[in-house]
Amino acid sequence: MTTNIAIVIYTMYHHVATLAEEIKKGVEAAGSTATIYQVPETLDDEILGKLYAPAKPDYPIATPEVLQAADGIIFGFPTRFGNLPAQMKAFIDSTGGLWQEGKLHHKPASAFISTGTGGGRETTIVSILSTLTHHGMIYIPLGTITAYAELADLSNVHGSSPWGVGTGQDFAIAVAKLTGKDDSKTAAAAPAKETAKPAAKPAAAAKAPAAPSAPAKKQKKKNPLSRLFAKLFH
Ligand SMILES: Cc1cc2nc3c(=O)[nH]c(=O)nc-3n(C[C@H](O)[C@H](O)[C@H](O)COP(=O)(O)O)c2cc1C
Repeated sequence: MTTNIAIVIYTMYHHVATLAEEIKKGVEAAGSTATIYQVPETLDDEILGKLYAPAKPDYPIATPEVLQAADGIIFGFPTRFGNLPAQMKAFIDSTGGLWQEGKLHHKPASAFISTGTGGGRETTIVSILSTLTHHGMIYIPLGTITAYAELADLSNVHGSSPWGVGTGQDFAIAVAKLTGKDDSKTAAAAPAKETAKPAAKPAAAAKAPAAPSAPAKKQKKKNPLSRLFAKLFH
């Protein structure tokens, strides 16, 4: 069965949309499908005009049902003083019904961001973790190993970190593709192909993970997160 990823974004000046398109390519390159959704705007046209905001991109509007239907979710949003933008928060606050029924429980989720000066590039991703935690979702960071060469390239201005992809110069695009591949693989390995049953189901953590295997050479190229989730859930 094909893994279906929802990329749920808010964007005002389209930087997040550009990254979302690259992440989508990464997901598709891994053999999964991805659809980009945008959360509803909360500002009126007059305010958007004063902010010189261009027209919205042509993506379908995200709904709680979109989150429920996806095998994995990648959230993308620009920073607002190191935090989630209110538009994304308003959307998240509409997911109370899903929370009540545990519909997102143990669904893998990841996040990427956009900043202007770079201020808040890590805290902005951190600001969505409480939401993911309360929903019981599994947070998938970018980590370091998947994009080590790019993250360690100090000759390039970039906004990515182990927390996730962020806008910067061109290589953010390459990292975005890697992220898409990585998230897609993890979503495929996770249990949430069906609606979660949180109350009845013992926590995945209760299942003792197998002892870490020796770092065999042939495992070197495999993503460690994929291995971890494979051990936890299979
Ligand atoms: C109210 C407000 C607060 C912002 N705060 C920050 C900030 O703390 N750090 C920063 O680097 N950029 C900040 N920005 C700039 C946005 O993050 C930047 O415009 C955004 O990343 C562009 O993404 P987009 O093109 O997808 O909308 C702020 C913008 C606004 C409107």
